[in-house]
Amino acid sequence: MAFKLIIVGGGRMGSALAEGLVDARWCATNEMAVVETSAEQREALAGRLPGVAVIASLEIEHVDDASGVVICVKPEHAEAVARMAGAMGATRLLSVVAGLSTQRIEATLPQPIAVIRSMPNTPVLVRKGVSAIAGGAHVTKEDLDWAESILGAVGTVVRVTERNIDAVTGLSGPMPAYLYLVVEALIEAGVHQGLSRDVAQQLVIGTFEGSAALLVSTGETPEELRHQVTSPGGTTAAGLRTLENRAVRSAFIDAVAVAAERSRQMGR
Ligand SMILES: NC(=O)c1ccc[n+]([C@@H]2O[C@H](COP(=O)([O-])OP(=O)(O)OC[C@H]3O[C@@H](n4cnc5c(N)ncnc54)[C@H](OP(=O)(O)O)[C@@H]3O)[C@@H](O)[C@H]2O)c1
Repeated sequence: MAFKLIIVGGGRMGSALAEGLVDARWCATNEMAVVETSAEQREALAGRLPGVAVIASLEIEHVDDASGVVICVKPEHAEAVARMAGAMGATRLLSVVAGLSTQRIEATLPQPIAVIRSMPNTPVLVRKGVSAIAGGAHVTKEDLDWAESILGAVGTVVRVTERNIDAVTGLSGPMPAYLYLVVEALIEAGVHQGLSRDVAQQLVIGTFEGSAALLVSTGETPEELRHQVTSPGGTTAAGLRTLENRAVRSAFIDAVAVAAERSRQMGR
């Protein structure tokens, strides 16, 4: 039986996508398959995805000219998966694989088909991810709509040109790690001021969540919200001046630039 959507790789990214798509009723569960090599992972997935076919390998009968394939394996396996899916007749490929260009995927394919590359981030695991998508040489607006509808099941989707994917890979890809570092540092700062670690964690993580909610719900810019908590000559102004003196803003600009450049090198 051929499937409408086949997710190859049922690890962290693939399983989060599959669960999001089932909950969003993207298609009937019996129209979706997850291909996963690990027997242990297959067993876990089958329990979490009732009605979805969880299979050990992609076979020719699983694919027809209406099948789309999402590649969610590690980069070293991705080109082989693309080659196989293309050879079996899939008409659309969506890759979440970091550092793998649409040109490299297209070069593995026996015939030209729609290839869309994406860069999601880890909040997709709680359906609050941000993914950027870029189309390859044979992609139509409908193909991009298709990819957006898939990644939209686990968060927000932004369309960019492939040239900008490296910038995305330096910015929103690692951004959860950048923010966790800020959170860690602030917890440490609270402990240095004599707070227990538990209290410091509650204060910092709660404020992190609340500040993000304010940013999203008010629609005000980060600058406006920052000005609202910065009384002239007050405590926040003193703290912010120290951060600016230590060039925190420019450290982030450099971090994103270095990560984007690393992505460019990896893609060559
Ligand atoms: N996790 C993230 O936050 C994130 C963010 C952006 C992009 N990505 C991209 O997403 C991709 C997957 O990442 P992940 O974190 O989900 O990795 P993961 O948890 O290791 O999942 C990959 C899964 O695919 C299985 N697999 C390997 N080769 C296969 C094949 N030929 N057919 C079917 N299944 C196969 C693996 O099984 P074995 O373990 O047995 O090999 C593993 O269970 C990567 O390319 C990564 O660049 C991930």
